[in-house]
Amino acid sequence: MSRYSVVIDTSPFKNENKIKSMEKFEIEGGKPLNGDVIVSGAKNAVLPLQAAALLAEGEMIIRNVPRLKDVATMTSLLEGMGVTLSVDDENNIRSNTDTLTTQCAPYELVRTMRASILVLGPLVARYGEAEVSLPGGCAIGSRPVNIHLTGLEAMGAEITVVDGYIRAKARRLKGAKIVMETITVTGTENLLMAAVLAEGTTHLENAAREPEVVDLAHCLIAMGAKITGAGTNTIVVEGVERLNGIDYSVLPDRIETGTYLAAAAITGGRIRCLNAAPNTLDAVLQKFKEAGAKVETGDDWIDLDMRGRTLKAVDIRTEAHPGFPTDMQAQFMAMNTLSKGIGVVVENIFENRMMHVAELMRMGANIRLEGNTAIVAGMPTLQGAPVMATDLRASACLILAGLAAQGMTMVDRIYHTDRGYERIEDKLSALGARIKRV
Ligand code: EPU
Repeated sequence: MSRYSVVIDTSPFKNENKIKSMEKFEIEGGKPLNGDVIVSGAKNAVLPLQAAALLAEGEMIIRNVPRLKDVATMTSLLEGMGVTLSVDDENNIRSNTDTLTTQCAPYELVRTMRASILVLGPLVARYGEAEVSLPGGCAIGSRPVNIHLTGLEAMGAEITVVDGYIRAKARRLKGAKIVMETITVTGTENLLMAAVLAEGTTHLENAAREPEVVDLAHCLIAMGAKITGAGTNTIVVEGVERLNGIDYSVLPDRIETGTYLAAAAITGGRIRCLNAAPNTLDAVLQKFKEAGAKVETGDDWIDLDMRGRTLKAVDIRTEAHPGFPTDMQAQFMAMNTLSKGIGVVVENIFENRMMHVAELMRMGANIRLEGNTAIVAGMPTLQGAPVMATDLRASACLILAGLAAQGMTMVDRIYHTDRGYERIEDKLSALGARIKRV
């Protein structure tokens, strides 16, 4: 067992996890969805904010936190390190790092959630050492973390990988110019969280511009960090000695928003997303319009109306922000299967994010897959079938297909859905969907 390893007793949850892993969604399709839905806080924004709490002196409060499996995993990870945490009735998280006892992120948790790697930067920056299990590959791709590690090395950290664990040490990180060879979201976030406490100035070049990176930068600035350029491809950080805990509310989830809008589009209904952030969804809203939807936005709402309109096939190429997000590719693939015309979908971010294609074909979709390109010929109908989710967004795609299909669809392995969609069956039922967790 490694020096910093902690044993986390998960036994009380084992039975519960087993039951959850057998749960399925039973969906009776064919009903247009109508109504309002309140968007939750963003999964991919809250996870880095939870990790950023490791940088804070004093109490940190995070609000608008979605009730998701991944958030619970990050909470367990921090608790395992000795961080004092409490979650109130509204799911606001309070944390205090005064009680931290270890800088280890054990394999048992990292293997269930790759975003655990986000604790690496904050730990080494604040405590001078970290031991984090190296995340393995996952269903959608090999997903290496080399850029996180070379960036920390450039800031003076000594990095070794021993027994499957990344060990990082540094007396105090030093500012550096880091050119990331690929645009990486969590890589940018990790290096940003490391740079805020480093000595001197760090330039992060070819940085990710995703809204979740910007949200993290806003939070760090409120904690006392000196950051400019977040949201552009060069982020400049002037290191400070310490950061304070603050009270921060998480950005709305743009992918959850897009998924509900897709539910309106694919069922020929009308949905208004409330508590949304329309300015984070430009490329996606553009594609909904191209697909024939009427889209209206206000400061914090988006309305998509597909009633009486014909869904048209659209071409999609996934790209880093502000391009079309890979996390919406599967949902648009589902829409294309029921559209007029032929849509070409190219996945450029992950090498294996097309596993929903074979499942859609079980429902009667007409798709030809060539490497990372899917050519989708729209059909008048899909038929309900038992299908299996292989990852989070694939599960959203299959739920959408089930909502629009004729007859009954049974979506298996919905523990993927619970990682990233808060109470999806309740929210969909309130919009008129016939969906049950069984
Ligand atoms: N990459 C490298 N080396 C690295 C890091 C990344 O080669 O060191 C490559 C990856 O293999 C991939 C590309 O860079 O081909 C982009 O990956 P990125 O690092 O940006 O992905 P991530 O940070 O691991 C986040 C989201 C994903 C989302 C991607 C892309 C979080 C917690 N996860 O992952 O969200 O798909 O960015 O936007 O923020 C999801 O929510 O369903 C999800 C998978």
